[in-house]
Amino acid sequence: MSDDSDPFDYFDRATGADTVRNPYPEFAEQRRRCPVQKVDLRAMAKGISEEQAQALPNVYQVLSHDLVSQVLRDGQTFSSSFYSNTMGAVMGHSILEMDAPEHGRYRGLIQKAFSKKALERWEDELVRPIVNGFIDRFVERGRADLVRELTFPFPVHVIAGMLGLPHADLPQFHRWTVELISVGFDWETGVRASQHLAKYLQPFLDQRRADPTDDLISVLAHAELDGQRLTDEEILAFLRLLLPAGAETTYRSTSNLLFGLLSNTDQLEAVRNDRSLIPQAMEEGLRWEPPLTGIARVCTRDVELAGVQIPAGSTIGVNLGAANHDDTRYEDPERFDIFRPARQHMAFAFGPHRCLGMHLATMETEVVLGSVLDRLPGLRLDPAAVDIHITGQAFRSPRKLPVRFGAQ
Ligand code: HEM
Repeated sequence: MSDDSDPFDYFDRATGADTVRNPYPEFAEQRRRCPVQKVDLRAMAKGISEEQAQALPNVYQVLSHDLVSQVLRDGQTFSSSFYSNTMGAVMGHSILEMDAPEHGRYRGLIQKAFSKKALERWEDELVRPIVNGFIDRFVERGRADLVRELTFPFPVHVIAGMLGLPHADLPQFHRWTVELISVGFDWETGVRASQHLAKYLQPFLDQRRADPTDDLISVLAHAELDGQRLTDEEILAFLRLLLPAGAETTYRSTSNLLFGLLSNTDQLEAVRNDRSLIPQAMEEGLRWEPPLTGIARVCTRDVELAGVQIPAGSTIGVNLGAANHDDTRYEDPERFDIFRPARQHMAFAFGPHRCLGMHLATMETEVVLGSVLDRLPGLRLDPAAVDIHITGQAFRSPRKLPVRFGAQ
């Protein structure tokens, strides 16, 4: 990637934006044939030698709700160490790639900082002012692009605020976070962003070790695991995970929820008139269009799933999107319906690695939706806008959400 290209656009395109509009019929078709599918890498990697083809890993996808939950619950058979050769290369040894017992000990240490109780303070001090600050900039205009002007920028401001990083650094900091997760298709850019981020964050860490404040870096710098403090490497790995984990997903999930409501105006009206519907609307948004459609594990032993023999060492693609659209569990799964019966979805995954930031993401989304409804009366999709839709394969969201509100 060249220095002057837009890393966000580059990332979107590489993860299927504008090429994949709706992967769900294909997922459903595969699931009906068999909920475990062998992925034919040989056919995908055209032009490689026989020797290279022999060296390709075995990759299987699981597509039903039951199998996704079985795989995610059983961390002993389906290990998260898959990430050590991918995201681990740019994040370091983070919680994402740890297995039991290391994972449990590490998670126990940091999860207090992400509990509902700990988040109360961030809601009033940080999230609400940030969200309102963005809305202030367009509220008088009567029209806006809610993606560019609200959902895309706000989550990275929240993370940076929680870490106590200076406001002026945000554009650069945001750019590095998306470059970091581009590592899967642009190794050099990912590794360079990782080094930049470590260099950028280290002085903040040194300073918080010496002189703690009440921000998240200070909490991590002074947390103790079995009587020992986390090392700089461990903290930097967590921080490099937190940025993309917290920003990229929340931006897309709030966009998807707003799109679901704006394109189903009766449901938007219902939520506008009865705010107690917000939690179920958020859950349905996450079920209907999870921002991240898949995660991965590696098999630690030979195993059989749905009658398919899977050898040890195989990669398992855990298709969260397909699980959320499993028609044996959700009636008419492609329909956005905030009134459907509440059933556990997989957007935040499941089991030991279930999203650590889910309460934060939920609180942020609640603030966004509440503020948008309070401050933008008559909110509707801009009638002049053509063909607004959700797009993408691995990450999914609308590219833009042009709206009008007020008397305009
Ligand atoms: C709607 C927004 C979000 C979604 C859909 C989401 C989704 C996920 C998923 C699917 C995983 C499991 C990954 C795996 O096991 O392979 C995960 C883990 C994680 N998420 Fe989130 N996430 C969201 C927001 C956040 C936020 C706001 C933060 C924090 C600021 C966060 C931090 C994390 C962390 C630290 C993990 C690793 C947990 C572990 O390995 O034990 N996430 N998330």
